[in-house]
Amino acid sequence: MLFKQQALLRQRLFVLGSLAIGSVLYLVARVGTLDRLQPICPIEGRLTPHEPEQIPLRTLQFKRGLLHELRKGNATKEQIRLHNLVQQLPRAIIIGVRKGGTRALLEMLNLHPAVVKASQEIHFFDNDQNYARGIDWYRGKMPFSFPHQITIEKSPAYFITEEVPERIFKMNSSIKLLIIVREPTTRAISDYTQVLEGKERKNKTYHKFEKLAIDTNTCEVNTKYKAVRTSIYTKHLERWLKYFPVEQFHIVDGDRLITDPLPELQLVERFLNLPSRISQYNLYFNATRGFYCLRFNIVFNKCLAGSKGRIHPEVDPSVVTKLQKFFHPFNQKFYQITGRIFNWP
Ligand code: A3P
Repeated sequence: MLFKQQALLRQRLFVLGSLAIGSVLYLVARVGTLDRLQPICPIEGRLTPHEPEQIPLRTLQFKRGLLHELRKGNATKEQIRLHNLVQQLPRAIIIGVRKGGTRALLEMLNLHPAVVKASQEIHFFDNDQNYARGIDWYRGKMPFSFPHQITIEKSPAYFITEEVPERIFKMNSSIKLLIIVREPTTRAISDYTQVLEGKERKNKTYHKFEKLAIDTNTCEVNTKYKAVRTSIYTKHLERWLKYFPVEQFHIVDGDRLITDPLPELQLVERFLNLPSRISQYNLYFNATRGFYCLRFNIVFNKCLAGSKGRIHPEVDPSVVTKLQKFFHPFNQKFYQITGRIFNWP
């Protein structure tokens, strides 16, 4: 009898123990998921030492529900009025650099519940015709958002266009400016690859990269070639610094955004005074694409379009070395000005 009772007790203890262990394992496995699915937990406890802005809980709750609908154009006027939604001018702009990873950066920042992206490149400040349409036209191009969210747009042509710094300054002299850079020679080849693909699509022939990047008369680097000029980051930045102090810029490492995006995104969150909300859960490596892709929640994830991450043509190594030597002094200056040091050759 006693033996039977002990066996029963052992059995019950075993069942209870299994249940407890199972629950703990489940909670551990789900904690990241829950965090993303229910972004309504208190954010106060997550403040960075910089004491970033508080984001109302309502904002976090609605971000992926209502705003998703809004972006698809499904919001009614009533919803806009009811939820106090507004089209806001950007509080931060990704101004460049073309082929630095500007799309990946914008999409990844959009994972943050307090960020709303302008999906299209607006080209307001670099295109005279658009600029002449005025600031209300620009605002009208922005997505709807809650007042406490920040809107971000990206137009990489801004970085290299002469008139843009002054125009942006006139709109908002305290705007935050993001610049994503890659090793300059790789960026130039990426730039070339994009143009080459465009030509091939139209069945047109195009010069080899080597022919464009090197002046055949002098055998020196051809600084008239746009893909080379764009990679002289310091030259462009110096124009911007006539209007904005260096503290208003944040430099993103585009090469690291490819291989290990989270730390770069966390630096941007900090720069934008946002609580840290993007986590490893939101980024997963897709072996087929060869890049990190985005996970918004348990059902919605996406990779960037195939036009991002093209295979570059092989370039004569002596030309690569020549370009790297050419960019070297400009890179040193860029590190000095920005305080961000890269291991570029
Ligand atoms: P490549 O096509 O040379 O590989 P941009 O958006 O400014 O045009 O930059 C395009 C570059 O973003 C691509 O250059 C690619 O390497 C880079 N990139 C960074 N993260 C990426 C990601 N997660 N998916 C696809 N491309 C990414």
